[in-house]
Amino acid sequence: MNRRSIRFRLTAWYAVILAVTFMVVGGGVWWAIRDSIHDTIDKDLRSRLQAMRDYLRRQLADPDSGPLAEELAEQAALAPSGTRFRIAGADGRWIYQSPATRAWKPQPPDPSRLPAGGRAQTIVAGGKPVRVLSAPVSLGVVQIGLPIDEFYEMLEEFTWTALLASPLVLLLASAGGYWMSRRALEPVDRISRTAEQIGAQNLSQRLPLRSAGDELDRLSATLNAMFVRLEAAFHRITQFTADASHELRTPVAIIRTTAELVRSKPRGQEEYTKALDRILAESERTSRLIDDLMLLARADAGADGIVQEPMNLAECLRGACAEVRVLAEYGKVCLEASVPSDCTVSGDDQALRRLFLILLDNAIKYTPAGGAVRVNLAVDDSAGKRTAVVEVRDTGLGISPEDLPHIFERFYRAAKDRSRKTGGAGLGLSIARWITQRHGGEVLVESTPGTGSVFRVRLPVLSWPALPASSLLQNSPPQSTKESL
Ligand SMILES: Nc1ncnc2c1ncn2[C@@H]1O[C@H](COP(=O)(O)OP(=O)(O)OP(=O)(O)O)[C@@H](O)[C@H]1O
Ligand SMILES: [Mg+2]
Repeated sequence: MNRRSIRFRLTAWYAVILAVTFMVVGGGVWWAIRDSIHDTIDKDLRSRLQAMRDYLRRQLADPDSGPLAEELAEQAALAPSGTRFRIAGADGRWIYQSPATRAWKPQPPDPSRLPAGGRAQTIVAGGKPVRVLSAPVSLGVVQIGLPIDEFYEMLEEFTWTALLASPLVLLLASAGGYWMSRRALEPVDRISRTAEQIGAQNLSQRLPLRSAGDELDRLSATLNAMFVRLEAAFHRITQFTADASHELRTPVAIIRTTAELVRSKPRGQEEYTKALDRILAESERTSRLIDDLMLLARADAGADGIVQEPMNLAECLRGACAEVRVLAEYGKVCLEASVPSDCTVSGDDQALRRLFLILLDNAIKYTPAGGAVRVNLAVDDSAGKRTAVVEVRDTGLGISPEDLPHIFERFYRAAKDRSRKTGGAGLGLSIARWITQRHGGEVLVESTPGTGSVFRVRLPVLSWPALPASSLLQNSPPQSTKESL
């Protein structure tokens, strides 16, 4: 038997509690029986005392009565069997002693120290217990006794029965307790055996529910819910690995085939330059992809290196706009920014810049030539807290309602062919969402296919230049600078 098992410990506790209960209850019953014996005998003795007092009063008042000792001896002979008494005078000498009382203590008790109703005590005379009531009477003192050995034998019998039966009952009860705890814990064994079998190969297996609706069913349901989460996480990881290797294979294959093709026969300068340009572009794409993958891996591992400190969000946003200006010019997209001079948030400058670059890059990338991208920073004071709202609005292709819920997922690209042309891997928005969440904010999107999209990043604000309350609510920040590109 495993001493550390719950089964063993439950049984041990059960046995200990039962033993203590037996001792307390047994002791209590023993005391109650003994008290009740004494009460009954004492009541009897007191009524005999009363009779004795009445008798003495009558005797002392009767001038015709003989010597008291003789009268008392006569009285003793008439008394019910078992009654024993003796009377001592005020001088401390015994006037009368019934034969059985000669084994008692020879000195009479001091009547002045006795209460009027008498004092009862148990003595042992001739090896047998006797209940003796000593009380003051007019003559001196009287002692009346009744043997209680039969009652004490009964008490002793009870004691022995309890002492012998208790261990037996304890043993039986403990065995029953062990059997019951074994039965109750059997499903736990079954749960742990099934759980042991669940591994990476069969993560879809679930623990059986007994439909009892008890704690163990709840435990199984909780574990099953955990397995569902684990399975989903495991699936995400395997999918991520498969997608990552797939995404990496394509540029590496392009680099390799381009190099092999160029080396297969002598080529002109122009062809070499073209091939090298292609190799360079694919290498850049690969290293960007590796950077993104590393960032997400570090984020998953909780080692992202993000340090949050007070920083000017407006300045960061303006810097990101300036960085994508060339891209916008190249794509013939008009970029407008309405950003205030100052808006302090607690954040990581580099990470937030990356977030804005991702949104701006998308907006420009997915907006055809002639379209516009508008960037805006305002503060929202509703909902009881101050939030910086960065809005990147474009007049681009928009996102279909089917794609919209998925665009923040890793490697998700709305229209795969189109994205392939633009060279994205589908990691940008998942990184954007992670950065926003890491800063205690959120990123939301609204989009109408064919009309354009709006990405809104909400971040908690530390400070914002004082301005009239009305101007806080809408997109009219103080000292806004407007850039047109
Ligand atoms: N402003 C936008 N307009 C239209 N579609 C968008 C916009 N932003 C994102 N999308 C869609 O959401 C998808 C996911 O965007 P995400 O930035 O994550 O990936 P990507 O731009 O394809 O690649 P990456 O950013 O990794 O280079 C894109 O493929 C695109 O279809
Ligand atoms: Mg992108």
